Amino acid sequence: MTVTNQLHDITVAVTRSKGENFTIEPARIRGPRYNEILVRMVATGLCHTDLIVRDQYYPVPLPAVLGHEGAGIVEEVGPQVKTLKVGDHVVLTYGACGHCHHCFEGHGAYCDDFFGLNFGGSDLSGQTAIEDMHGQPLHDHFFAQSSFATYTIAKENNAIKVPKTAPLAMLGPLGCGIQTGAGAVMNSLKVTPGSSFVSFGAGAVGLSAVMAARVVGATKIIAVDVVTSRLELAKKLGATHTVNSKEQDVVAAIIEITGSGTDFALESTGRTDVLGQAIETLASLGIIGVVGAPKLGTKAEFDVNNLLLKGRSIRGIVEGDSIPQIFVPQLIELYQQGRFPFDELIKFYPLDKINEAAKDSEMGKTLKPVLLISEIDTLC
Ligand SMILES: NC(=O)c1ccc[n+]([C@@H]2O[C@H](COP(=O)([O-])OP(=O)(O)OC[C@H]3O[C@@H](n4cnc5c(N)ncnc54)[C@H](O)[C@@H]3O)[C@@H](O)[C@H]2O)c1
Ligand SMILES: [Zn+2]
Ligand SMILES: [Zn+2]
Repeated sequence: MTVTNQLHDITVAVTRSKGENFTIEPARIRGPRYNEILVRMVATGLCHTDLIVRDQYYPVPLPAVLGHEGAGIVEEVGPQVKTLKVGDHVVLTYGACGHCHHCFEGHGAYCDDFFGLNFGGSDLSGQTAIEDMHGQPLHDHFFAQSSFATYTIAKENNAIKVPKTAPLAMLGPLGCGIQTGAGAVMNSLKVTPGSSFVSFGAGAVGLSAVMAARVVGATKIIAVDVVTSRLELAKKLGATHTVNSKEQDVVAAIIEITGSGTDFALESTGRTDVLGQAIETLASLGIIGVVGAPKLGTKAEFDVNNLLLKGRSIRGIVEGDSIPQIFVPQLIELYQQGRFPFDELIKFYPLDKINEAAKDSEMGKTLKPVLLISEIDTLC
């Protein structure tokens, strides 16, 4: 595959209508233009956000090719690409325009065009790169990548070059779920050595936060969930305490463990009742980050004076405030040193078992499904 702008035959997993199973279909993709790259996907993570978009919590137009934790090999580069070449191993991450106020300040996750670039279902001009075998456009550009595909188009600025010594098939989730949890702790909340940290939710995002809290030296690390196996894994990954909110009074348990409440917390369940509980567990001047995503328009309740009189803070966090080209290689290095064992979260499935992977994730059986798409050394 060397000719730019020729249509390539590919296979994709399509979300055709709200809440329906993904369907595996043949399709076609155009070649890369301008600052785009064509990537042969080796594997992609399945994130909870793929499932809430399948279920239309966020109104991405359908039919669409979702997937946003892609890892693969650069197959072709557009004429303006400067920093990547054919054969490079890349992890794909969220899209950002690169030239708005927030992008210039290194906050691409809060790009003025974030929603359009990541959830718009096309490029900003409304064009898609993928069409089905009837020539009908399939909405794509999901997180500027649509990685549930054998090949995809991304941009130079949402591809992270990673070392060939790292296990590429495992790396995709670093581009979303894992950088979100770890980045929330390291970049957003800036959890300090000797402090206390509570992760509300011990899914892929919450457990990445737990691992990061251990790396930065928090000494009380508490994981809260309703799934016992996840709490057991949390202990292995660095939690000093666990709380099963089905069985225990969460607020009382956390106050007992910490003495006077927690310094830092992260909410990744996407549930407003859990957020309300979590705010109550904060120490004076404690801060909670919110990453769990409920339906658009969801409102939460909390006692304003409990926030005000204790100087507590609450803030939203997108993608762990990560500058992915800097942060993802750092996480890979921590992994290679044995200090960030995110491989413990992963279970592999072939791409055509995507619905099984989604079901296992929703039932709490699998923490981070990764769909295997092609062999690293396959030649085109
Ligand atoms: N803000 C961002 O940038 C960003 C990035 C990635 C994912 N997300 C969102 O983060 C959330 C977490 O993603 P994930 O992949 O870890 O999902 P997940 O489903 O693996 O994790 C959610 C966890 O919450 C637990 N939970 C459910 N109800 C609970 C309760 N009452 N008390 C305690 N725990 C409870 C579940 O058992 C599960 O382990 C999702 O909403 C996802 O859409 C946000
Ligand atoms: Zn921007
Ligand atoms: Zn995600």
